[in-house]
Amino acid sequence: MSEPSAAPRPVAAPIGRSTDTVPSPDRAAEFRAALVNSLRADGKITTPAVEAAFLTVARERFVPDDVPLEQAYAVDDAVVTKRDQRGVALSSVSAAYIQARMLEQADLRPGMTVLEVGSGGLNAALIAEIVGDQGRVVSVDIDPDVIDRAAKLLDASGYGSRVRVLVADAEHGVPGEGPFDAIIVTVGAWDIPPVWLELLADTGVLVLPLIMNGVTRTIGFRRAGGHLVSTSIEVAGFVPMQGAGRHEERVFLLTDPNGKQVKLRFDSAAPEDMSPLDGVLATDRTEVWSGVTIPHRTSFADLHLWFAWHLPGFCLLTVDDGTELADERGTWFPFGAVHGAGFAYLAIRPAPEGVGVEFGARAYGRDGQLAATTVVEQIQAWDHDGRHTEPVFGYWPAGSDENQIPADASVMNKARGIVTISWPPRA
Ligand SMILES: C[S@@+](CC[C@H](N)C(=O)[O-])C[C@H]1O[C@@H](n2cnc3c(N)ncnc32)[C@H](O)[C@@H]1O
Repeated sequence: MSEPSAAPRPVAAPIGRSTDTVPSPDRAAEFRAALVNSLRADGKITTPAVEAAFLTVARERFVPDDVPLEQAYAVDDAVVTKRDQRGVALSSVSAAYIQARMLEQADLRPGMTVLEVGSGGLNAALIAEIVGDQGRVVSVDIDPDVIDRAAKLLDASGYGSRVRVLVADAEHGVPGEGPFDAIIVTVGAWDIPPVWLELLADTGVLVLPLIMNGVTRTIGFRRAGGHLVSTSIEVAGFVPMQGAGRHEERVFLLTDPNGKQVKLRFDSAAPEDMSPLDGVLATDRTEVWSGVTIPHRTSFADLHLWFAWHLPGFCLLTVDDGTELADERGTWFPFGAVHGAGFAYLAIRPAPEGVGVEFGARAYGRDGQLAATTVVEQIQAWDHDGRHTEPVFGYWPAGSDENQIPADASVMNKARGIVTISWPPRA
């Protein structure tokens, strides 16, 4: 394995890339070094092994030919490689920051056996660099086109003999493989299929983007007796799972007086009867403020997670251009709640003291004031109990001893088990 300071390996010309667009190795190496510096500074790369892998694998060889180096080596940008008829992304080369972070979460060592769920080639090459010649990498994808492309790119980059790629719906496992020291899932998972736990070694790590009431966290899980406990958490979004593990959200449309729509997207716990919200966007809007403030340029992603777990009637929003909400973009966020005949959404305004912003809720409908108050109560609860502490997740497969679930944990039912969250008291 290369040392962090070692020069990148020379690379052959990328397949399919015309000679006038082949970046010089020096230029690509500069981008590689700059990316690693940035990922280290952001705390996404924390070990020499992941750093060495990022300095070695040529990202530009795994993205489509017309993608410039700036984009291939961007910290935050995924490169979409396949979409469905409606334009929804089905496959992508994941953003560098989340690849780095997931590799760190997986705590990989030389000689390990690793399963990657969701393929593409690049991440498998990074894993192969870390586990080395004595290790083993299996990369599965439900889409034969993705596997075909990944196989060609891995071959052309010299990793063909070190990664086994195969077409499989990961929901059903990987025939003839396992146990794995690490399973890295690179597609949004609504649940944990039992077969992943069967494939995971007793001391193994499962890293997956778990969707919880519409909000995703990439969680590193280890076994603790019959259940799993989180050992690391990262914020990220992923393309949705296809196949048997696919999960459909429930969508309700609110239409304003001009025929423009606000889409309310529920993960599972949608209200049975949405008719009380008919015509709600034609009502006067109300607002309630929380007194909870935050400085500019500070992440409050955990507020969304708090809502997903604790706010009754929680939903995600997508709005048409031309609606009142669209006109006020920048002062609200696409997280809302339905309460009786009211619909409220998270909003901000300049903080009264002039430093940062204050959170609140704007709302429509006969119960709008109540709906906004419900949102504000949860903003205040997050400020008190969630804001200053990192949550701990648990996963309890069906059949495990639920009596052991800690009394302070909140519970979310999944098809194959139960997810729990606890917010440790502020230190
Ligand atoms: C974000 S991409 C994977 C990115 C890749 N790991 C990389 O190198 O950056 C997610 C992939 O998951 C695949 N996928 C979706 N559902 C799947 C399933 N049930 N089993 C296996 N793969 C699946 C998609 O076809 C897609 O190619």
